[in-house]
Amino acid sequence: MSEPTGAARRRGPFKVGDQVQLTDPKGRHYTFTLEAGKSFHTHKGAFPHDELIGAPEGTVVRTTGNVDYLALRPLLPDYVLSMPRGAAVVYPKDAGQILAMADIFPGARVVEAGVGSGSLSTFLLRAIGDQGMLHSYERREDFARIAQENVARYFGGPHPAWRVTVGDLQDHLSDTDVDRVILDMLAPWECLDPVAKALVPGGILCAYVATTTQLARTVETIREHGAFNEPTAWETMVRTWHVEGLAVRPDHRMIGHTGFLLTARRLADGVVPPRRRRRPAPGAYGADYTGPGGQSGQGGQNGAEGAEGA
Ligand SMILES: C[S@@+](CC[C@H](N)C(=O)[O-])C[C@H]1O[C@@H](n2cnc3c(N)ncnc32)[C@H](O)[C@@H]1O
Repeated sequence: MSEPTGAARRRGPFKVGDQVQLTDPKGRHYTFTLEAGKSFHTHKGAFPHDELIGAPEGTVVRTTGNVDYLALRPLLPDYVLSMPRGAAVVYPKDAGQILAMADIFPGARVVEAGVGSGSLSTFLLRAIGDQGMLHSYERREDFARIAQENVARYFGGPHPAWRVTVGDLQDHLSDTDVDRVILDMLAPWECLDPVAKALVPGGILCAYVATTTQLARTVETIREHGAFNEPTAWETMVRTWHVEGLAVRPDHRMIGHTGFLLTARRLADGVVPPRRRRRPAPGAYGADYTGPGGQSGQGGQNGAEGAEGA
């Protein structure tokens, strides 16, 4: 049986064409591609690529200036943060959440928009594997090209499960029997009709948005749409730790904000879900509430009129 696409590039001794990530004594990273007969130059001397070709990962190379560098293959989280970008990428912490919470499985049929720089596409392709299907939609041709180059560089060529369409998702989406739809775009609420048509019953819509206003509009529009169950919304914060002797504490710096995530499941056609018993906070739908489409609020004095008691 042949190896899954890209797997041979993830293991074994270093080969020509592999990406190498060097770590210097200060922990700084440098990434390059191995080429026979070439040298890697640093401000503290150089070393020949040939020294690494055939060597195991985790090898240390010494430059002519006597500085040691640790050589490893970059992991996918390293790769997506260092690859050329068109648009802002989905960070590894959020990609991990999407894979887990949108329940991406080997062989899954997934639709994604937009492609941006191809960070999330690469995570999704690795998770669905060669037997899956990822159809990605991107409205900007230049971004689609950058993403295709990034994905091909990672897998060592085109991925057999990947198809890219240039255009707006809401105008072009015609896939059916889709298990998962992942939206990373400005206005996911504009895509709900075609997404509902594409998804199988029980399928998952997952949206990644940068601002609270996008989050609110997406959630409220999903609620009004009727083809989905009650959405779940969350964000993740990852704090790395400094661990040295008795100095064990959170690092001073962290990624403060990337985006918010939400998921909702596609209901079977014609199904009206049991009404969710929830009591909005006083004022949640009050006079100041403008609704997903900008209409003015209908709430009463405390905005909780019509709300069911918990
Ligand atoms: C933040 S970027 C996506 C980043 C990408 N997920 C990644 O990990 O590299 C958002 C992208 O969505 C595209 N976009 C916005 N609205 C779209 C739509 N309706 N259909 C298709 N692409 C859209 C934009 O052109 C942009 O490239």
